[in-house]
Amino acid sequence: MKEYLQSNKHKSRARLRVPTAHVAIEAAHAGSMALLDYFRKPLEVRAKGVANYVSEADLAAESAVVQTIQDAFPTHAILSEESHSDRADAEHSWIIDPLDGTNNFIHGIPHFAVSIGYYQSGQGVLGIVTSPATGDWFVAARGEGAWFNGQPIRVGSAQGLEQAMIACGFYYDRDQMMQSTLDTIGDLFRCEIHGIRRFGAAALDLAYVAAGWFDGFFEYRLSPWDVAAGAVLIQEAGGTLSDCQGNPVTLNRPTSVCASNPKLHPKLLEMVGKRIPKISE
Ligand code: IPD
Ligand code: CA
Ligand code: CA
Repeated sequence: MKEYLQSNKHKSRARLRVPTAHVAIEAAHAGSMALLDYFRKPLEVRAKGVANYVSEADLAAESAVVQTIQDAFPTHAILSEESHSDRADAEHSWIIDPLDGTNNFIHGIPHFAVSIGYYQSGQGVLGIVTSPATGDWFVAARGEGAWFNGQPIRVGSAQGLEQAMIACGFYYDRDQMMQSTLDTIGDLFRCEIHGIRRFGAAALDLAYVAAGWFDGFFEYRLSPWDVAAGAVLIQEAGGTLSDCQGNPVTLNRPTSVCASNPKLHPKLLEMVGKRIPKISE
């Protein structure tokens, strides 16, 4: 795993020209290596809420990522899931999920990510999502493009829901938000979509939309660190990302998310917009 991660790191770095990219790549690599050190080994885990956990792997990856960034840019703002809560719209802001897919990780399922977005005054500049267990890298830089292991990626070309593979996520709520998500899945099946996938790592869901593997993705409540890197990937891969009412996503608070190719987006939005739970925005 580690060799594949390393070789794809080199291919990814070769693509990116923005000055902060080198540091972002090193930070994602450090976080990914920290996660692999803990994967499928006995793990200390603490519950934050229903089905919402933090493990020593989350914390180790976070300190590896944050340390790498702070060594290079001590004055930059950091918003990261477990420990730093600076503003996402600071002049220079790093928005980090050190382990996206904690639930998968603690069950030994090899679908989890490190997600790092670098924003300047609220504008996405860099998005990096790694999948440490497969050694894959998704990277994007504003105005430069989006890549999977060094190869350019684009969103898919599905024109209608009946041509689409759709992904979704469930927030930790087991009440209204869960029910709305289930109802929307039913509505989508009745539109004859190819299928629904719930893989359990939102950063990878967004990366898969950017790569054209998923045609669309929705979730009724996500945190800024789930979305920051994926948003840059989607934008640079030619996709559209909004909240579930069609508004631009802002990263200073939790948000709903709907992402797809521009042609499919209004159709997916129409379906997910019907069921928005009141507590999601
Ligand atoms: C979670 C994952 C999951 C999504 C949840 C997120 P975490 O992040 O991205 O796919 O459905 O809403 O909170 O807690 O594993 O970092
Ligand atoms: Ca997450
Ligand atoms: Ca996390």
